[in-house]
Amino acid sequence: MTPCPHLIDRIMAVMDAAFDPAFGEAWNRRQVVDALTVPSTHALVVDADGAEIPDGPAACATPAGFVLTRHVLDEEELLLIAVAPDARRRGIGARLIESLFAAARTRGIGRIFLEMRRGNPAIHLYIKLGFEPIGVRKNYYRMVNGDRIDAITFGRSI
Ligand SMILES: CC(C)(COP(=O)(O)OP(=O)(O)OC[C@H]1O[C@@H](n2cnc3c(N)ncnc32)[C@H](O)[C@@H]1OP(=O)(O)O)[C@@H](O)C(=O)NCCC(=O)NCCS
Repeated sequence: MTPCPHLIDRIMAVMDAAFDPAFGEAWNRRQVVDALTVPSTHALVVDADGAEIPDGPAACATPAGFVLTRHVLDEEELLLIAVAPDARRRGIGARLIESLFAAARTRGIGRIFLEMRRGNPAIHLYIKLGFEPIGVRKNYYRMVNGDRIDAITFGRSI
């Protein structure tokens, strides 16, 4: 019997499909592994129905989305969110963020932050979920072709 994929494999399956390589936003496997060795990093992986796939060998559902976050004291940063292209616009991204809010509250978190490259359509999702723009870092990201793009910081109290 083929073993079910590990949490890292599930995240990487969505990662490799979801990000446009031109922007260099996707993390590689090493970055994900390193991030998850830090106990304050949290990963949530969901299937195409938006249901959480628990980490462990018993759950074999195909991953459709994930969110990675890290908390420091009572604040949490959304590091990455992604939904596989063929599963988009069905509410999975919104469910991931709502699940994050619920999990973060149990950790005693009062505020969530995230940073996004200017022009990413994900802005519509963040605004819909109640995030407000609170800052701009000029030319913060560098695209694969060398062009620079601003980072916009968003925050939301939960
Ligand atoms: C951003 C992303 C996670 C959204 O996932 P999703 O599952 O499609 O989002 P949802 O279906 O929950 O969208 C909820 C609402 O957000 C808004 N929205 C989401 N994606 C949108 C888009 N591309 N354009 C316009 N509005 C969008 C809409 O209001 C949508 O509601 P609607 O479909 O009823 O109009 C997904 O597009 C993705 O993985 N993008 C590539 C990775 C990335 O850039 N991640 C963010 C930076 S880390």
